[in-house]
Amino acid sequence: MSQLTITGGRALRGEVTVQGAKNSVLPILAATLLARGPVELLGCPRLRDVDASVRILRHLGCDARWEGSSLVVDTAGLNRCEISDILMREMRSSAIFLGAILARCGQADLSYPGGCELGPRPIDLHLSGLRDLGAEIREEGGVLRCRAPRLMGRELILSMPSVGATENLMLAACGAEGTTVISNAAREPEIVDLQMFLNACGAKVQGAGSSSVTVEGGRTFHGCTYACMPDRIVASTYLCALASAGGSVRLLGARERHLATVTAALREAGCAIASDEGGLTAVCRQRLRAVRAVRTAPYPGFPTDAQAVLMAALLRSRGTTVFEENIFENRYRHVDELTRMGARIRVSGRTAVVTGVETLHGAPVRCTDLRGGAALCVAALGAEGETQVSEICHIDRGYEDIARDLRALGADIVRVETEER
Ligand code: EPZ
Repeated sequence: MSQLTITGGRALRGEVTVQGAKNSVLPILAATLLARGPVELLGCPRLRDVDASVRILRHLGCDARWEGSSLVVDTAGLNRCEISDILMREMRSSAIFLGAILARCGQADLSYPGGCELGPRPIDLHLSGLRDLGAEIREEGGVLRCRAPRLMGRELILSMPSVGATENLMLAACGAEGTTVISNAAREPEIVDLQMFLNACGAKVQGAGSSSVTVEGGRTFHGCTYACMPDRIVASTYLCALASAGGSVRLLGARERHLATVTAALREAGCAIASDEGGLTAVCRQRLRAVRAVRTAPYPGFPTDAQAVLMAALLRSRGTTVFEENIFENRYRHVDELTRMGARIRVSGRTAVVTGVETLHGAPVRCTDLRGGAALCVAALGAEGETQVSEICHIDRGYEDIARDLRALGADIVRVETEER
């Protein structure tokens, strides 16, 4: 097991390059199954979730290997269209492979992806859209047996703008005959990145970023070299770290338009944030003010993935901030751990009320999930004394090396490998 030891109470000063986006590279790795030639992903982040995707690609018979900071995938050797239960359970978002395998192979057998710490993670919208495209999907004892000898393009209407369902249906539609229009599509920047990757491989996808995405089917796909976008949630995390500890930092590669609701909240709290071609510069010199209600919503609303880290940044603010988590059922698991550090937070259903306190104190805390774990680090930077953060495997799913990055920003943080208990 590993843990992070963080000594808070000192201002941050430094700069860091923001890693590639987890939620962009994961659907792109599934999309490599469509390419009939090698794909080189430049600056691919080394994450536990990327490792899980690589294991799935290799299980399917593909070649996937690191070449420096690039991940090179060649799917020429693809010889299976089923994903084992063990592999499916390693990463909740492995459902994203379904559309791509169907488009490439015409069939797919994979077990139902498990829920996760955030609550049940249904894929009913994915399955109903695939059925609308002509897939026959039987659910037998926890396994999805999918047959789609001919996918036929048509209009698909999502009952809610699901990110994963939009991405899965874009990939399946690439293997369909005719044109598919996905209405009420999710608008996240990562979906625009997926469209750009697919078009770099020879697809003709338009409209990503709007609520209507059009995919022209029947095209063949070649390999490409692609650099995925910077991770807007990692950038948001480091901005919240600055807000929590004070100081001045520069985030190279961060694009403000991708996290405008987060920078707006931090400016309202009293941070000065400037953006330029190279990234973002943030300065915080005084105690933060509480922010009006923070309601999570599909993009371009406030991102659910930044809820925990913004909460952590506001724990010592002057006043009260009300959070409303509207995307996931169980996304306040970090609250109990923050309370151990002296935070004042009251949770009732989807609402969490944060009343700012003068000081937080370091304490031993435990990661409950990916973004909740990052929030513990953010809070620890603004706390007096030492905090030990354990079960940091959750954080490693989405942050390449949070200790390295926060140290580059001037934090007193070390990763300690503790013996297996
Ligand atoms: C993606 O998850 C992200 N993961 C999540 O990031 C992110 O929080 C989420 O989008 C929302 O922005 C990846 O991109 C790998 P959804 P996804 O489908 O696709 C319900 C992180 O921390 N729903 O938009 O699973 C679902 O239960 C992770 O990086 C259905 O009911 O999100 C949830 O309540 C966490 N039926 C809501 O919709 C479906 O078929 C949003 O889910 C699909 C989803």
